[in-house]
Amino acid sequence: MSERIGIAVVGTGDWGANLVRNFANLAGARLVAVCDADPKRLEKTAAQYPGVKAYADVSLVAADPEIKGVVVSASAPGHYPLAKVLLEAGKDVYVEKPLTLEVAHAEELCKLAKERNLILMVGHLLLYHPGVQYMKKMVTDGTLGEVYYIYCQRVNLGKVRKDENALWSFAPHDLSVVLHLLGMEPTDVCARGSDFLQTGIEDVVFVDLKFPGGKMAHVHVSWLDPHKLRKFTVVGSQKMVVFDDMDASEKIKVYDKGVDRAGEVVAYGDSLTVRNGDILIPKISLQEPLKLECAHFVECVRDRKKPLTDGLDGLRVVKVLDAAQRSLKNGGTPVAIQPLPQEVA
Ligand SMILES: NC(=O)c1ccc[n+]([C@@H]2O[C@H](COP(=O)([O-])OP(=O)(O)OC[C@H]3O[C@@H](n4cnc5c(N)ncnc54)[C@H](O)[C@@H]3O)[C@@H](O)[C@H]2O)c1
Repeated sequence: MSERIGIAVVGTGDWGANLVRNFANLAGARLVAVCDADPKRLEKTAAQYPGVKAYADVSLVAADPEIKGVVVSASAPGHYPLAKVLLEAGKDVYVEKPLTLEVAHAEELCKLAKERNLILMVGHLLLYHPGVQYMKKMVTDGTLGEVYYIYCQRVNLGKVRKDENALWSFAPHDLSVVLHLLGMEPTDVCARGSDFLQTGIEDVVFVDLKFPGGKMAHVHVSWLDPHKLRKFTVVGSQKMVVFDDMDASEKIKVYDKGVDRAGEVVAYGDSLTVRNGDILIPKISLQEPLKLECAHFVECVRDRKKPLTDGLDGLRVVKVLDAAQRSLKNGGTPVAIQPLPQEVA
């Protein structure tokens, strides 16, 4: 049996605790250390995992030769400085979303990982979700036809953050799925939102994205909403698909609905006929996406594989977030998205 990969988790708060649990139970991994700047949190986590080292500072993780891969799950402002220290120390790194809070920082991390042949992965969890993978297959095998547009909602009455707004906290998930399904970057982005609870920190944001070929997407995120929705609707020329992550058993519904173009007719409008066919509810694997994501990181570290959600994927999403943030501050004016720079692409 091949050697188990030594892993450390930096930041063991609400979400980090889930990562620690997964890596502690993963066949190909060995949880070597946990690290948290908050002594109480560190003590609490370490008490649950006897034999695992407890480090109060990332420099100790960076210097530990038993550790090969590090997961960064500190709050978002810590992602860039922590990932940088770890990559410079030769560690493979998996950073929670968003990869960074600045485009230049995301580019720097991608460059660093590329130069040193290190794995840089970002926690775009939904790309490991069997429901999203089902939708992606429908796009690539042509079942949906041409994808016209996508809209999604990620809203609930939830954790109100003070170091990032709802856009940066929630939208990385939706944007990563939209970019993955369409397989392209938007040309421009508009965003509007409002800060009802804390000045300057938007609780609710509506983002509109325009893509080449007239495709479009709309993302609605909020932590101030009576509903708990995590839902994507993808409208294609042949079929339409809805992924509802709040539905325990029927996460995917495929609608054989559309508008067909008939043969030769006199008036153009008369050639369009509505097709209102069956609804298919496929069986979707109920495997925990986070477990699949953690296993993927270990596999990438062991086999030196490019992660499904690599640093560039993180950078593309940060670019859209940054453009949306600028649009938000300018009352919703469109902001163009620039192509990835040569040295990181
Ligand atoms: N993938 C997902 O679905 C998902 C879900 C929730 C949160 N997240 C992401 O996970 C990250 C953590 O979120 P959370 O809700 O657990 O936040 P949290 O505030 O509960 O926990 C963050 C922890 O990091 C520690 N920390 C901060 N700076 C540190 C440093 N320099 N060194 C070591 N430890 C440090 C804090 O002490 C704290 O314990 C965020 O980036 C968030 O966006 C991802």
